[in-house]
Amino acid sequence: MKFTFHGHACFSFALDDGTKLLIDPFITENPLSDLKAADVQADYILLTHGHSDHLGDTIAIAKRTGAKVIAMFELIEYLMEQGISNVHGMNVGGSFRFPFGTVKMTQALHSSSLQDEAGNIIYLGAPVGLMLAIDGHVIYHAGDTSFFEDMETLGRTYPIEYAFLPIGDNFTMGPLEAARAAEKLQAKYIVPIHYDTFPVIRQDPYAFVELLPANSGRVLKPGESIVLK
Ligand code: NI
Ligand code: MN
Repeated sequence: MKFTFHGHACFSFALDDGTKLLIDPFITENPLSDLKAADVQADYILLTHGHSDHLGDTIAIAKRTGAKVIAMFELIEYLMEQGISNVHGMNVGGSFRFPFGTVKMTQALHSSSLQDEAGNIIYLGAPVGLMLAIDGHVIYHAGDTSFFEDMETLGRTYPIEYAFLPIGDNFTMGPLEAARAAEKLQAKYIVPIHYDTFPVIRQDPYAFVELLPANSGRVLKPGESIVLK
């Protein structure tokens, strides 16, 4: 299988059997994205939370492709009101075995909401991280989160190969805490995410990688992929 970073917190996965996954497809409004929302193919869209820089183009892509959307229960309820019917709601701590692999929703210390056209905030349940077991690989997308001590338990419980960790600060943990998170998670490789998209989350990912054990940091440019055997 192969995964590709698309800037911010967006990834696509191309699995060995041809299945295509998208995580947090923030494309059109993402200045760093290498994608065009109208060209993206997906069988499944996985969401960490409802903020617009994660929900992104989900509704348009789901309507065009018929992709199944996997997300927190309240976020799914909202998407159903928007006309999305191929959905699978979950909640923190739960896992489910999909045809492509297993998804576990893990806690994230953050919030999850959207603004409607009138400017009112709609709360969309808890934000989550995603622990994925796909094609024999364990991959952890932390979503938007602060550092939390239970990352150590996640690290003891799951043999994480790749962890995608936010380093942008301001809205999530910054580089120092993300390095601490990496230590707790014991992941083989760390991919920094959620930085440089907006001025307030500007960071140097190479300086972050210097805080990690040697050869464990993997800085990906938008459009860059990693192939897992
Ligand atoms: Ni967020
Ligand atoms: Mn975010």
